[in-house]
Amino acid sequence: MPNTVQQSPASCQLILMPSGRKGQVAIGTNLLDAARELGVELESICGGRQTCGKCQVIVEEGHFPKHGITSRSTHITEPSKLEREYDQEQPLNGRRLACAAQVLDDVLITVPDESQAHKQVIAKAATERTIEVNPAVRQLYVEIEPAVLGDPRGDWERLVQALQDQWQLSELVIDPKTLLSLQSILRAGEFAVTVSIWQDKEVLRLQPGYQEGLYGLAIDVGSTTVVAHLCDLRTGAVIATQSAMNPQVRFGEDLMSRISYINSEPQGLARMNRLIIKTLNDLAEKAAKDGKISPQDITDVVLVGNTVMHHILLGIDPAQLGVAPFALATYSALDLKARDLGLNLNNACRVHTLPLIAGHVGADNVGVMLAESPADHEGISLIVDVGTNAEIILGDPTQVLVASSPTGPAFEGAQITHGQRAAPGAIDRVRIDPQTLEPRIKVIGHPDWIEPQNDKDSLPQVKATGICGSGIIEAIAELFLAGIINSGGHFLPSTAERSARIQFDGPTASYILVNAELTATGVPILVTQNDVRAIQLAKAALYAGTKLLMDQRGVKAVDRVILAGAFGTFINPFHAMVLGLIPDCDLDHVVAIGNAAGDGARLALLNKNLRQKAVRLARSATYVETPLETTFQDEFVAALNIPHTTHSFPHLAGRLPEFPEESSRKRRSRLRTMQESNK
Ligand code: FES
Repeated sequence: MPNTVQQSPASCQLILMPSGRKGQVAIGTNLLDAARELGVELESICGGRQTCGKCQVIVEEGHFPKHGITSRSTHITEPSKLEREYDQEQPLNGRRLACAAQVLDDVLITVPDESQAHKQVIAKAATERTIEVNPAVRQLYVEIEPAVLGDPRGDWERLVQALQDQWQLSELVIDPKTLLSLQSILRAGEFAVTVSIWQDKEVLRLQPGYQEGLYGLAIDVGSTTVVAHLCDLRTGAVIATQSAMNPQVRFGEDLMSRISYINSEPQGLARMNRLIIKTLNDLAEKAAKDGKISPQDITDVVLVGNTVMHHILLGIDPAQLGVAPFALATYSALDLKARDLGLNLNNACRVHTLPLIAGHVGADNVGVMLAESPADHEGISLIVDVGTNAEIILGDPTQVLVASSPTGPAFEGAQITHGQRAAPGAIDRVRIDPQTLEPRIKVIGHPDWIEPQNDKDSLPQVKATGICGSGIIEAIAELFLAGIINSGGHFLPSTAERSARIQFDGPTASYILVNAELTATGVPILVTQNDVRAIQLAKAALYAGTKLLMDQRGVKAVDRVILAGAFGTFINPFHAMVLGLIPDCDLDHVVAIGNAAGDGARLALLNKNLRQKAVRLARSATYVETPLETTFQDEFVAALNIPHTTHSFPHLAGRLPEFPEESSRKRRSRLRTMQESNK
C-alpha cells in the first residue's frame, strides 16, 4: 500500500451571501481581499487598517447542505488586537471585520447591506427597481510617509505614492485649490488623511485623519420650479429635498420670453444666470442645514434642465435656441467645477450635466429617460413630463422617439386665476357632484376631503389659498363630467339655474370652488372660463405632440402611460384622460410618478455608470421637431376639445357625459367619428 500523507487542503470554499458568489480561495487569504476576488466589494474607508469598521460581516454557523459545506466561526482567524479594541469602542455584536480575518476553512459569510460597497437602493419609479450605489466620488483613508531630510519628494508626490500603494490608484491629479491646503492638512492629521477622489482620477478634498461623510446634490432646474435632492453618496439615501420657484419666471413664464429678454437686455443673460445660481446656492444651503452638514461637504452635483435653463445656468447665450434651426452650443454631457459656475459648495466640487438631445429636448428629458427608459420595457410606453414645456417620450426596446411641446405654464398653476404651486394651502384634489354641482376638495397640508358647503368650521383652519396643477386638472375634468362645461370647454348657461356656484358675467363664466369667507385670502377661489381655455391650450399641445410621435412610430395606441412632472406628483390618471391630456389607455396602466427628471439626476449622482447610459440614451433617441411637423397644427386644433374632437376613448366608455345642448348634427358627427376610429 502506498503511503498516504494527510495534507491540509491548500484552498477552501468561500460563499458570500446574499449575492451567492462562491469560489475556492487560498487558505490564509485576507477575507476582504477574498471577497473582492469573488466580485463582492466591501465598504472600506481605512483601506484594511481595522479602524473604520465598514467591512463588517457575519460568519454563519452550521452545516449548509445546499452549499455542501460546514461553516464555523473558527474557520476564520481569531480577532486581532486592533479588532478587539474596535469592538470595545464600537461593539461589533458578534460581527467580524473582514479586513482583520484570514480564511482558514470552508466558510459561509453574510455581508450586511451596510457593508456592501455598491449598495442597492430602490429607485422611486413607475416600476420599482434597484440601483447600485456607485458614485463618482469616493472617500479613502491613507497614511503617508512623513517628509524627511534626504527625500526631495513633495507632499503631493508622497500622497500619490501612498494612494498607489494602498488603493492601487495611478495617474492622479489634484484640484489646484485643494493643493493649497495639502501641507497643513497632512500635518494636522499627522500624515494620515481622508481623501475624496473623483472618478479615481482627481483629488477633490483632503481632511485630516480619518473622516466619514460624502454628499452630493441632484438638481432639476425647471422653467418654473427648481428641486434639489441632497444625497448621502455612501448609502444612496436622500437626506434632504428643497425646492423653490425659478426666479427667472419674472422675465417670462415660457422659454421664448426668457430668450427674448436676454436678446433685448444687454445684461439680461448675466442677470438671469445670477438669479438661478443664487437660487441653487440657497437651496444647497437649506438642504445642507436640513441634513446637518456644511455646503463644504458637498463634492458632487448632477444637474438636469431643459435646453434653455441648461444654457443660461452655464452662462451660455441661448439666443440660437430661439430661432430655427435651434442650434445648441453643445449637446454633450459636461464635467465642470461648481466654483466656475458660482456655486458655493466644496471648493473643488464637481458638476456633471446630463447630455441634451436637441434644440428643444434637454437634459431633463434625458433624466426622465434614465428614470423610466421605454427601452427597458416591452410594449409601447408613453412618458409625458408635464411642465411649462412638456417633454414627450414614446417607444419600446426597438426605438425611442422624443419631442418637446410648448404647453405653457398652465399645468404648473401659472396663468390660472387662482393657480399656485403645490404647497400647503393649495387645492390639489377636486370632485363635483353631478346632481347638486357641489364640490369636494382636498387641500395640501390637510388630510381629509372637505365639502366647502358643509364643513364651514374646518375650512378657515385649512386655509385654502389657491389651486395647484393637479387640482386644476381635476377641477376642469370634473366640471366636464358634471356637465357644467361642454366638450368645447364652454360653461353651459343652463347650469347657472341649478347652482349659484356657476356665475356668468357677460361673455365670461366661472365656477366658485370655495366661497370668499372660507378661504385664507378672503377672496373666492374660482375656476374661470379663461382657466378652462388655458388648460385646453396646454393639453392640446401635449396631446398633439404625443399623436405626432405615435404616427411616426406607426402605432394607434400605447400600452402604458407614465405621467411625470414636479407640479403634480398626484395627477389622477382618470382625470388626465377625461381631459384628453393623454391618449386612451387601460387606466390600470397609467401611473403618475412625480419629478422623474429629478429622479434621473439622482440616479446619475448615485451611480457614475448611469452617466454613460444617459449619453447612450440621448444619442440613440430619435428626435421629432413637433412644431415643424405640418400636421401639428391640425392635431392641436383637434385636441382642443375635451377629451378630443375626433379620437375615441374606449376605456372611458360610459363615463363621459352627454350634452343635450350639443346639436344633434354635431353629436351625430362626433359619434360617427368615434365609431370610425374605433374600427
Ligand atoms: S476596512 Fe476598515 S475596518 Fe475593515
